[in-house]
Amino acid sequence: MGDLLFPDNFLFGASTSAHQTEGNNLNSDWWDFELAEGTPVFEPSGDACDSYHRYPEDIGLVADFGLNAYRFSIEWARIEPSEGRFSNAELAHYRRMLEACRARGLTPVVTFHHFTLPRWLDQQGGFLSPKFAELFERYCDRAARALGDLIGWACTINEPEGAGDAGWVVGIHPPGIKGDHDSMWRVVNNVMDAHKRGAAAIRRHTDAPVGVTLAFQDMQYEDGAVPGHTPWEDNARVSEMFLEASADDEFVGLQTYTRLRFGPEGERGPGLKSDKKNGLVETPMTTMVGWEFYPQALAGTIRRTAKLSAGKPILLTENGIGTMEDEKRIAFIDHALRTVHECLAEGFDIRGYMYWTLLDNFEWSGGFEPKFGLVAVDRTTFERKPKPSAYWYGNVARSKALPAGAVQWPPVPVPSAAPAT
Ligand code: BGC
Repeated sequence: MGDLLFPDNFLFGASTSAHQTEGNNLNSDWWDFELAEGTPVFEPSGDACDSYHRYPEDIGLVADFGLNAYRFSIEWARIEPSEGRFSNAELAHYRRMLEACRARGLTPVVTFHHFTLPRWLDQQGGFLSPKFAELFERYCDRAARALGDLIGWACTINEPEGAGDAGWVVGIHPPGIKGDHDSMWRVVNNVMDAHKRGAAAIRRHTDAPVGVTLAFQDMQYEDGAVPGHTPWEDNARVSEMFLEASADDEFVGLQTYTRLRFGPEGERGPGLKSDKKNGLVETPMTTMVGWEFYPQALAGTIRRTAKLSAGKPILLTENGIGTMEDEKRIAFIDHALRTVHECLAEGFDIRGYMYWTLLDNFEWSGGFEPKFGLVAVDRTTFERKPKPSAYWYGNVARSKALPAGAVQWPPVPVPSAAPAT
């Protein structure tokens, strides 16, 4: 068997977000949340990776590895530091980032909102504010007017389906409330409206495709399993609502990390799967609690997204692994890309794959412990140290080909993907 070839215009990128990498996002809701007593955040973001100053180096690394796309987010809390006051200097900063991408031949994929809010908006209720959609539209309009001509792909809101759940039900994002389902649904509606208004505002200033990036995990139901109301399943239903609400968009951003398995007696515990021959066996895990090592999850989520969106182009805006073992990361990306290749061969319209993430960065309430990066970052000097996976992935991107033999990661061979349904 020969190498597996990808289309010439396929995007191979790395993803980041502003708050997780820039550092000192002082004017945001997350900054306060991290420093408040009693929140579940392991440690504050502080200087993060200092990418606010070191973005030329980051963009240079992405290009040097051989990738052809960079996904990053622009920070609302910097661009609109007080309500209605927009900063030309901050917009110029993000313009310089876009110019740096273009100068190195990278397609910039820009997210307008990745989890964080300006403090002034948080003080008005944040996502719950009845003015949320209108304010988001105005911010998108201003930012796209300044940046639109340089953007390659525009994403409105990152994982909007999780905003209500994380902030008002599970309490791991600001405002850290638990069990308030009414507020959660109000947030879902506000954010859905915000996506539509924001997308329309961005389109006024760019020819780039505009879409939303949704989190879908591969939900696998074994014979006899009955879909129920576990948090993952409820979340998947909200994702599907967002997919319906984004029918007018030019593409869907798909973000998948793992699979969830359900048997006749309900959700399987993390790391357990039922094997016909051996009964319940352990499956390999990642450092994220409950996230199984299962790169083939993309097969299920690509097929489902394509079906529900009537074949809209898909950009894989996030997929990655938190692990201390870089060889395991190489095996993960290898298997993920093999799965993508299979889906391309089945005829799915997939435009690119963005590995999450470029740098070991601030993993929200997990602090800096989980290591998703292709590049390690010294927490004091901010020196960047590319890992072997960065060069390995860069070679695949450069040649737009995967070697015929799959990378095996010891000790457990990677299980095969679930068959198409
Ligand atoms: C988010 C990223 C996060 C990653 C890994 C995604 O849900 O968009 O910000 O770092 O998952 O947890």
